[in-house]
Formats: sequence, C-alpha cells, structure tokens
Amino acid sequence: MNQPAVPRILVFDSGVGGLSVTARVHEAMPYASIVYLADNAAFPYGDQPDAVVIERCCTLIAGALEQYPCDAVVIACNTASTIALPHLRRVMDVPVVGVVPALKPAAAKTRNHRIGLLATPATVRRTYIDQLIEEFAVGCQVERVGHPGLVQWAEGLVRGVAVPQAELDQAVEGLRGAAVDTVVLGCTHYPLLLDSLKRSLPGVRFWVDSGEAIARRVEWLLAQAGKSASPDEQGGEPRVPVVDALFSGPAPKGVTGFMAAQGLQPRVVTENWPGTS
Ligand code: DGL
Repeated sequence: MNQPAVPRILVFDSGVGGLSVTARVHEAMPYASIVYLADNAAFPYGDQPDAVVIERCCTLIAGALEQYPCDAVVIACNTASTIALPHLRRVMDVPVVGVVPALKPAAAKTRNHRIGLLATPATVRRTYIDQLIEEFAVGCQVERVGHPGLVQWAEGLVRGVAVPQAELDQAVEGLRGAAVDTVVLGCTHYPLLLDSLKRSLPGVRFWVDSGEAIARRVEWLLAQAGKSASPDEQGGEPRVPVVDALFSGPAPKGVTGFMAAQGLQPRVVTENWPGTS
C-alpha cells in the first residue's frame, strides 16, 4: 500500500515556551512529525537587539530545514514573530506562521470590556500592540503587564522548580487592580504557567492564547498544499511526535520528561546545536 508522506513541521522558540504551541499543533495534527528548535543559547530574545534576533532566527531555521526538510515553520515566539517574520518569509520557501497576542479573540470574549495583556517587557512596549488594540479591541480597556520573571519561571518548570506563587501574585497585581475578566497570554511560555496564574487571578473568566489558532492555520496551510494525512491514511500515528528537539545551548535538565508529560515525547534531544553558536 502506498503511504502518503507524513507532513513535518518545524516549531521554533527562544526556549521551551513554544512547547505550549507544539502541544496544540500535535493535538490538531497527531499524524504530523514535529521538529522542535529552541535558540536557548540566546534566551530571552526580549533582551537581544533586533538585528541579533533576525540573524539568529534566519540562520538557525535555515540550518534546521537543511537537516530536516519541513512543510511549514511555526515561529512560536511573540518576540521573534514581531521582529523576524518578514525577513524569514523572504528567505524561506515553505510557509512561515507567526504568533501575535490574541487580542482579537479576547475582545470577543470579555464581558466587562477589561482585558489584561500579559507579555514580556519587550512585547508590551511594541507599537504593534497599539495597532492590535486600535484594530481589534476598540472600546476595551487593555491593561498591559510586562514582567521579566514569568519566562524564567516557565523555564524553571522544566527543571522541576516550582513557580514562586507569591512573586507571581505580585507580578500580576496590575491585572487584579484593573478587574480584568479576560487575560491574553501574549508570550508562548505563559500557558505553561496557567495553573499558577489561575491561582493568582481567580476572578478571571477567560484565558486566551494563540496556540489553537496557530494549529488551525498550519493545518489549513498543509491541506492547501495537499500535505495533510489522517492517521488512518498513513497507517497510525508516528511512534513519537517530536523527531528531534534541537537546543542551541545546553538542553534543559529534565526536558525529555517534561515534553513526554505533555504528550510530546522526543525521539532525540540534541544540545549545542548546530555546534558553532
Ligand atoms: N516565548 C517567547 C515569546 O513568546 C519568549 C520571549 C523571549 O525569549 O524574550 O515571546
């Protein structure tokens, strides 16, 4: 029997935050193979000059595609998406899907027209956030909180370090004060902190991130390219969803177990990739 080729997707982030998006991609397309690439040697991207982010994204993603040809690339990082997306699209010959804070769906959900935007300091100060609010959240009060701790706490979870709840409570104090009923998770690391965030802000009704929308977009793009395959068609799901988890720095201790717990068991974890960065 002729087996259709299994589509392969490259998911990129500066760290482990993109795993929150990878989980949604895997849920939507369990038949697809995933390569995960984290530029953790340069984490966090929010502290890097734009030119460095552009150069690193373009070089690392091109290198990964050479090793693992893919049908689509997901930039599962708000910072990298804002800075590098146009450059990547110019040089890649596969579709590149980026992520933006989900202000539009949040505006559709909020009942009291008060939305919290939780993102990295680098993301909250970008002018494209003003544009998103003007375009999609007119009439809503949007309270922005950009805190450097949250990405670090999410990374710590991989190593088994508990989230410092009291510090998190303090970090999101501005959202409590603004009585928001909806919070946009404007950084792909934050869905990993959702349980702790819910404890900090029990009054919030809607938590919105971009993972599902990205997964739907990738699924659509692959279908357009004739690259979708149902598990039945290709004779069952791949044994492991993530064929390789590439880290530009040392692999975070505990990452294999962390990924497995999210249904993202990696076949191989490669660190200090590609060996010259
Ligand atoms: N996951 C990245 C994002 O969504 C982390 C930010 C960073 O590296 O600064 O923006």
